[in-house]
Amino acid sequence: LEWGDDLQRRFAIIGHRAPSVGNLNLNDLPGSGGRVDVLTRAINSALFVSHGIREDTQIVLHMMGGNGPPRRILFDGSRLGGVRPDERSIAGQIKSVMKNEIPPIGNYVQCSRGISHSGGGPEQTMAEWLRDGFKCYLLDASGFPSSNIESGDKMGFFLSDDLPMNDNDKSQIGGLDRVSLGEMWLQGHSCIAIVHHILDSH
Ligand SMILES: C[S@@+](CC[C@H](N)C(=O)[O-])C[C@H]1O[C@@H](n2cnc3c(N)ncnc32)[C@H](O)[C@@H]1O
Repeated sequence: LEWGDDLQRRFAIIGHRAPSVGNLNLNDLPGSGGRVDVLTRAINSALFVSHGIREDTQIVLHMMGGNGPPRRILFDGSRLGGVRPDERSIAGQIKSVMKNEIPPIGNYVQCSRGISHSGGGPEQTMAEWLRDGFKCYLLDASGFPSSNIESGDKMGFFLSDDLPMNDNDKSQIGGLDRVSLGEMWLQGHSCIAIVHHILDSH
């Protein structure tokens, strides 16, 4: 495989406490919002460049917290419109999605341009990406050096929010190849920026 001009990138972040249902208080994203601020920064790093959006990139938020079943929210850079890069604006989009009932697992339903949602968790995301021909990696400071990332034109990366992967995560996606971006644990959105840099450099 060669690094293609049309390299597609996908990121998946696991929001352990991010509520899947209910009202999201935009004034308290780190607290009652279950660290949705972390997820908004991940979206920012994944999709936004200085003057525009990376059309080759998607990011899936996994809302694993609260009282409801898990929800996945997909932001698709090729179709996204009308979203500003600031945290509050992005969180507002998430809040709007949460007003809708969670669709069945695996069935992505569009909420607005470039934003859709589905039931399911990381295991479903991994299965869908593998089905779509994506090479998938788990970002982990104790993984293999990033030079081990294989070349390909469909690349997927899983990362966690501020918490370590738990046993449930490990049982779902723990078998993926692990890639380290250095020994120091970084914030998730910084990892996404570094991965973009690595892929952009090829
Ligand atoms: C804020 S870190 C979580 C730190 C947490 N102490 C842990 O053990 O996972 C968020 C996520 O970014 C990714 N990450 C952070 N530093 C990394 C590194 N040096 N190499 C690869 N991935 C990293 C991992 O997926 C991590 O779960």
